[in-house]
Amino acid sequence: MKAVITSTAKYLPESILSNRDLENILDTNDEWIRTRTGIRERRILKDPEKATSYLCTEVAQQILEKRGISAAEIDLIIVATMTPDMIFPSTACLVQKDIQAMNAWAFDLSGACSGFLYALNTGAQFITAGTHKKVLVIGGEKMSAIMDYTDRSTSVLFGDGAAGVLLEPGKDDSHGLIDARLYSDGRGGDNLCMPGGGSLRPTTHETVDRKLHYLQQDGRQVFKSAVVGMADVAAEVMNRNHLTSEDIDFLIPHQANHRIIQATAERMGIDMEKVAINIDRYGNTSAATIPICIAELDEEGKLQTGNNLILVSFGAGYTWGGIYLNWL
Ligand code: UT7
Repeated sequence: MKAVITSTAKYLPESILSNRDLENILDTNDEWIRTRTGIRERRILKDPEKATSYLCTEVAQQILEKRGISAAEIDLIIVATMTPDMIFPSTACLVQKDIQAMNAWAFDLSGACSGFLYALNTGAQFITAGTHKKVLVIGGEKMSAIMDYTDRSTSVLFGDGAAGVLLEPGKDDSHGLIDARLYSDGRGGDNLCMPGGGSLRPTTHETVDRKLHYLQQDGRQVFKSAVVGMADVAAEVMNRNHLTSEDIDFLIPHQANHRIIQATAERMGIDMEKVAINIDRYGNTSAATIPICIAELDEEGKLQTGNNLILVSFGAGYTWGGIYLNWL
């Protein structure tokens, strides 16, 4: 039994942080950001009382409404995030409480920018096993909470947002999640991390002074690995499933850098018209980029029954992967 996506939703906070706004606080400029990354603006959750669970709850509520089901019908909630409200309890448990999904169990999945693909494949296993009927899979991030807005090399890249899908059993085996290839390589860990706040370096005056509670990235190293990783896994998923570029209706890549997206599409021989891109409006929302793209395509009525979708990502860990979906 395959897991199919029966509903989608996204939530982006209203407040916009444009490249021009960043020019006022950093030694950067709109031209550098646009040509190097493709980003024009990103959304920021400004309310200090709200965090990732708020974004994810908004998504979950929309999904319930769209599907016309009650929260009590949800069996499992998985939230992919690297910016949980707290280290514990999990953000997924906070969402479960907020939507009152009292029959669901809930957990967070830490896969950084590949978190949504990891979570989607994990959720699908419970459907395929026949033990769960309705699984909510959400990717959500308040990246602004871990940005050093004095560091131009990272703070221009990321934004806040969330999106998700409802997984249910398909009626036949032709639609849904057909194939997934997921990878990790912990040797890349130091190139993209938040060093402080965990059990290795608990919060102290020193960790705060040394800015260890912010995201740190060696952009060039990650760029090189991401270009290879995303293109390789996309090609692998195509080959395994005997797909040519003509067979693919949409490529939905993680939105970290327009140049990485372009390189992946080129390697797959896919026209840029078939590539979902919203990095210009939202920047890199980590685990939320791919579900935001899916929700946008769905809202615009672009996804038709039988469409072939390839989702690909690369992120901290390193983590990367590709998923082949046939749209219900
Ligand atoms: O989502 C998780 C996975 N993450 C990724 O996939 C991100 C991968 N990396 C990237 O997308 C790119 O490496 C970046 C966009 C982060 C950086 O682009 P780059 O072309 O690799 O630039 P760079 O880091 O090599 O820096 C080039 C120059 C440097 O100046 P010098 O040393 O050449 O004088 C930087 O100091 O650009 C400078 N620079 C900036 N200038 C203006 C770095 N950031 C900025 C900035 N504005 N915001």
